[in-house]
Amino acid sequence: MIDAQKIRQEFPILDQEVNDEPLVYLDNAATTQKPRAVLQSLNRYYERDNANVHRGVHTLAERATAEFEAARQKVQKFINANEAAEVLFTRGTTTSLNWVARSYGDAFVKEGDEIVISYMEHHSNIIPWQQLAKRKKAVLKYIEITEEGFLDMTSAKEQITDKTAIVSIAHVSNVLGVINRVAKLAELAHQHGAVMVVDGAQSVPHMPVDVQAINADFYCFSGHKMCGPTGIGILYGKRQWLDQMEPVEFGGEMIDFVHLQDSTWKELPWKFEAGTPNIGDAIALGSAVDYLSELGLENIHNYEAELVAYVLPRLQEIGGLTIFGPQNPQEHTGVIAFNLDGVHPHDLATALDMEGVAVRAGHHCAQPLLNYLNVPATARASFYFYNTKNDADRLVEAIMAAKEFFANGAI
Ligand SMILES: Cc1ncc(COP(=O)(O)O)c(C=O)c1O
Repeated sequence: MIDAQKIRQEFPILDQEVNDEPLVYLDNAATTQKPRAVLQSLNRYYERDNANVHRGVHTLAERATAEFEAARQKVQKFINANEAAEVLFTRGTTTSLNWVARSYGDAFVKEGDEIVISYMEHHSNIIPWQQLAKRKKAVLKYIEITEEGFLDMTSAKEQITDKTAIVSIAHVSNVLGVINRVAKLAELAHQHGAVMVVDGAQSVPHMPVDVQAINADFYCFSGHKMCGPTGIGILYGKRQWLDQMEPVEFGGEMIDFVHLQDSTWKELPWKFEAGTPNIGDAIALGSAVDYLSELGLENIHNYEAELVAYVLPRLQEIGGLTIFGPQNPQEHTGVIAFNLDGVHPHDLATALDMEGVAVRAGHHCAQPLLNYLNVPATARASFYFYNTKNDADRLVEAIMAAKEFFANGAI
């Protein structure tokens, strides 16, 4: 069970006023707040154990290395990877996706091959594939979205063919609030000899994820969206592929032997991690994994579903408010994008901020999706396990107040 009131005490940042109102933080899809356990882990590392990893023989270096590699093992267990060597530390989802496009893409994609993504992808899961398609003279194709805001599986079956080399899809949309059937898409991809890449930026923080059950070839996510620090993320890849792939970056830490004209690489996972890694943040990500595991991802998922079941009908009652994605709360995650008739989303978000309610406004790094929906921008509230029904009420009240304000202002 999630006791959000109790949990909030572990997040110091939530206990503050913004514009003379208690803060309601509803921008969790952009980044989440950090519990004391994660902040302390970062502090403890720098105060006690800071040293470079893998190359020192002194005690601090051994401690730092042990903690760094322990964090990798925690992540391995968290996503049920087959082995820790399949878990690579990166800077975040964006870097992870770029590495797959650069390394796997450059090695295996040929001229005329097809790369299949969807209209609901984040720019981070579009541009690396555009660039790969340009380098390789490959073709980038898009799966359609249904009227209700789901990924259209009929379109998926049409787009994924024997020409497909890569399918790359978000597990959870950062705008529409839908969970995509990535295991089914992986099955389709594999039937056609393609690999399945999953953008897990919005899924791993909110629900149990088992990369083997999905049968993903690659799975990418960010630490900062799951209570961890910025600047650290994960690329999971099946050994079968990682063994055959070349590193994207070269330098210290990732080499075995360096000769004058050539060099050899370390084994997995280190061959991909050139230079001094982000040790402190990786260790703190391990603490975030401990923290989330303690709460239980199933519990987090159920609690967020409860919040959505509470807030979505209340939002639907507000006249002139358009909510994007499925209208059934059982089919909608805690990411809720909306627009108020006649009010620009930026003005709406500013009005909400005046009430202490933090939401995002803009294209949410999903311009092709917003073009597809025919809207230039939306506002977006995104919930996490430390949000409460009171937060939901405050959001609804703030939107009603903004509606009143802009209606009167227009008179
Ligand atoms: C679905 C999705 N993919 C990728 C990203 C990029 O994540 P990052 O900026 O942490 O690399 C985000 C971030 O908002 C996202 O929501």
